[in-house]
Amino acid sequence: MEKQETRRDFLKKTAIMAGSTLLATQLSWLRGYAAGTGGESDKKVRIGIIGIGSRGHLHLLHLLTIPQADIVAVCDIYPPHLERAKRMTENKAKGFTDYRKMLDQVKDLDAVLIATPLHTHATITIDALLAGKQVFCEKSMAKVPEDALKMVQTALQTGNLLQIGHQRMFNPKYLRAFELIKAGQLGNITQIRAYWHRNSNWRRPVPPGNVADFADPQMYPDMEHFINWRLYRAYSRGLMTELASHQLQVANYILGSYPTEIMGAGSINYWKDGREVYDNVNLVYAYPDGTQVIYDSMASNKHYGLEEQIMGPKGTMELEAGRMWSETPPSAPGILQLINNIEHGIFDDLPLGGASWIPDKPVEDKGLPILDEKLNDDGTHLELEGFVHAVQTGEKYRDLLAQGYYATIASLLGWESMVTNKVVTMPEELVLKNI
Ligand SMILES: NC(=O)c1ccc[n+]([C@@H]2O[C@H](COP(=O)([O-])OP(=O)(O)OC[C@H]3O[C@@H](n4cnc5c(N)ncnc54)[C@H](O)[C@@H]3O)[C@@H](O)[C@H]2O)c1
Repeated sequence: MEKQETRRDFLKKTAIMAGSTLLATQLSWLRGYAAGTGGESDKKVRIGIIGIGSRGHLHLLHLLTIPQADIVAVCDIYPPHLERAKRMTENKAKGFTDYRKMLDQVKDLDAVLIATPLHTHATITIDALLAGKQVFCEKSMAKVPEDALKMVQTALQTGNLLQIGHQRMFNPKYLRAFELIKAGQLGNITQIRAYWHRNSNWRRPVPPGNVADFADPQMYPDMEHFINWRLYRAYSRGLMTELASHQLQVANYILGSYPTEIMGAGSINYWKDGREVYDNVNLVYAYPDGTQVIYDSMASNKHYGLEEQIMGPKGTMELEAGRMWSETPPSAPGILQLINNIEHGIFDDLPLGGASWIPDKPVEDKGLPILDEKLNDDGTHLELEGFVHAVQTGEKYRDLLAQGYYATIASLLGWESMVTNKVVTMPEELVLKNI
C-alpha cells in the first residue's frame, strides 16, 4: 500500500493547529487531532473486526499500518473471508464465525469495527456497545430509521464511542472546503446539487458454494442474495444507503441542519435483472431555511461521474473535483477580454447589467483548487487513526455520530418517499434531543 497520510501530514495540509481555526474549534475529532500534536500515545488499542469482505478487508489493511492498533480478533461468517483475514494478521488474530463469541471470549477487547451488510449493523452494534466495546460501524447505520435511533441511544446510555464510517469528515480536501464555506467564501449556501452516476450492473460474481453451510438459509435463500445483498430490499436500500448517504452527510454538514421534507422518485429503468432496489433515483431535500439539495444517482450512465456542487451568491465549489469558482472573477486583461467577448458574441453596447436576451452562460474557466496538494487518502486511513485515537483518549465524537445519524435518516426517508410516492416529513421522534 502507498504511504498513507498520517495525523501529522493531515494537520499540516489542513493547517489546523490547536484551536486556531474555525473547524478545529467546532469539530470534536479535529480538536482531538490538534491536541495530539505534542506526541502520539503508544497505548495499544485491542480491536476485533466483524465482517471482512470488501470494505472490512480494506480497513484491515489500513489498521495493520497503524502502530497503536492491535488486531486481536477477526470475525466473518464466510470461511474464505475469515481465512484471508487471519492470514493477513499472520494468524495472530483469533478467528470467529459468531461475533457474540468474539465479544464474550476475547480478553480485554477494547473496540470493534463492523463492516457487515447494512441489515446486520444495528444488532451487532447494539450488542457490542452493551458488551462495553467502543464501536466503529460502517455507513449507513441501519435499514430502518428506528434502528439507527436505537444505536444512538445505546451509545449514549452506555457512554461508549460509536463512530460511523463517513470518511469525508476526515478528508483534508473536504475539511478545507468546509472551512472556506463556513467562513463565507460562497456566501450563504442557496443550493446543493449532488449526484453519483455509474454505468455498471453493480453485481459481484457469485462463487460456488452452499450458503446454508455458513449462514442462516432463512436470511439468505442462496449465494446470490448473500453476495449481492445490495440489490435486495431485505438487506439494503440500494443507491440510497450505499452511495447517497455519503453525499447527504456532506450536504447536511454544510447546511448545518437536516432535511425536513423530502420528495423522491425512483425506478428500475435499466437493470431489469431481478434486483429489487432502484437503479435510478431523483430526490429533492428541503431544509428549514428554504435551501434545497437536489440529489440523483443512476447505474446506466457514467458520463457525469460523481460530484457535490455547492452554490451560493458569491461562488461555487465542486468537492469531488476539489475546485472552486468565484461569481465575480478578476477581469481578464484587455485583449483576453476582447477575445472572450468575440467568442461569446457579446460585442455591441449592452445596457448596464446585461440584456435580457443574453443567455445565461456557464462559467468555462477551470477555477482554483480547494487544496493545493494532491492527497493519497480519501479520509479512510485518517478516520481509522481518529477511531484509534478516540479509543486511546476516551473521546466520544458525539457530533460525528449525529452526522452519521442524520445522513442515514436522510437516505432512509428518501427511500420511503420513493417507495410510497409521497412527500415525507421528518418525524419529530427521529430528531435527536440529547446530542
Ligand atoms: N465508507 C465507504 O466508503 C464504504 C465503501 C464500501 C462499503 N462500505 C460499507 O461497508 C459495509 C460492508 O460492505 P462490503 O462491500 O464490504 O460488503 P461485503 O459483502 O463485501 O462484505 C460483508 C462481509 O460481512 C460478512 N458478514 C455478513 N454477515 C455477518 C455476520 N453476521 N457476522 C460476521 N460477518 C458477517 C460477509 O461474510 C462478508 O465477508 C456496508 O455497510 C457498506 O455500505 C462503506
